[in-house]
Amino acid sequence: MLFVPADSDKKLAKALGSGADALVLDLEDAVLPERKPLAREMLRSWMAGVADRSRLWVRVNDLASGELLKDLPAVVASRPAGIVLPKIRGPEDVRVVAHYLDALEAAAGVDAGALQMVVVATETPSAVLRFGDLVREPLPRVRALTWGGEDLSAALGAGDPRLPSGAWRPMYEHARNQCLLGAHALGVEAIDTVYVDFRDPEGLATSCRSARYDGFTGRIAIHPDQVPIINAAFTPSADELAFARRVVDAFASGAGAVAIDGKMFDIPHLKAARRQLGIGA
Ligand code: COA
Ligand code: MG
Repeated sequence: MLFVPADSDKKLAKALGSGADALVLDLEDAVLPERKPLAREMLRSWMAGVADRSRLWVRVNDLASGELLKDLPAVVASRPAGIVLPKIRGPEDVRVVAHYLDALEAAAGVDAGALQMVVVATETPSAVLRFGDLVREPLPRVRALTWGGEDLSAALGAGDPRLPSGAWRPMYEHARNQCLLGAHALGVEAIDTVYVDFRDPEGLATSCRSARYDGFTGRIAIHPDQVPIINAAFTPSADELAFARRVVDAFASGAGAVAIDGKMFDIPHLKAARRQLGIGA
C-alpha cells in the first residue's frame, strides 16, 4: 500500500504508475493541519479523474481529532475502495466509524457496506492494551489490520522505537505481534508497517521477507522505489509455488501425513501449501 500525501500534485501524478496494489491518499499525518481543507479538495478532484477507483484508499484523520467528520463526506462521495482508520482506541472506534459510513453511503447513493476499512490497530496505548477486544466480534467492513510504532512511541513519551541494530524495541515487537495475531483471528490481511529508510533497498527486502515469513501479507510503502521491492518479497517465487504443488499432490493419496525429501508433512503443511497456491486453506 503506497502512501501518497493528498496535498501534493506531484506525488498524486506519480502514484498511479507506481505498481502498488493499493494507493493510500493521506489526509492525516503527512498533511499539515492548515492544509487539510485544501487536501480534501485536491483529493476529491483527483479521484474524479480516476476511472477505476478500486485500488484507491484514503487515510482519514482519527475519531478524536475533530477532522474525521470533515473528511468522510468528501471521501464517501468519491467512492474509493475504502478508508484507512488511524489511532483507534478500541473496537468501539471502528464501530462508530462504520456507522458514519452507513449514513454517508445512504446519503451519497453508494451501496450499503461498499467502503471497506484498513485499521491501524496499535497507535494508542489503549488499543494495544485492549487488543483482544478487537477480535471478539466480526468487524464486517474491516479488510486488513496494520500497525505503527511512531505514534505509539509519541504517546508513550518514548524515543526511537528501534534499537541501534534496526530491530524493534520489545514494546513495538509486542504491538506488531498483536496486530499479526489480531488480523489472522479476524481472518483479514496483516499489513506490516512502514520501513522509513527509503534509500535502503536491501534492508527493506530483508525486512519484507522476514515479515512474510512471520505471516504478514503485505506492507506499507512511503516511496515509489519501495513498491517493486515489497511486491517481489511478498510474491511467492516459482520454486515456492512448485514446492507447494508437490505438497498438495503428495496428499492426493488420502494419507494425513506424507514424506517429501525425507521430511514429514501433515495437515498444517497442506493448509499452508493450499493457501500459497490460492486454493483456500
Ligand atoms: N507517492 C508518490 N510519489 C512520490 C512519493 C509518494 N509517496 N514519494 C516520492 N514521490 C515522487 C516524488 O514526488 C518525486 O517525483 P519526481 O520524479 O516527479 O520529482 C519522485 O517520487 C522521487 O522522490 P524523491 O525525491 O526520491 O523523494 P522526496 O524527497 O520527494 O520525498 C518523502 C520523500 C518521504 C517526503 C516522500 O516519499 C513522501 O512524502 N512519502 C509519503 C509520506 C507519507 O505519506 N507519510 C505518511 C504515511 S507513514
Ligand atoms: Mg501517524
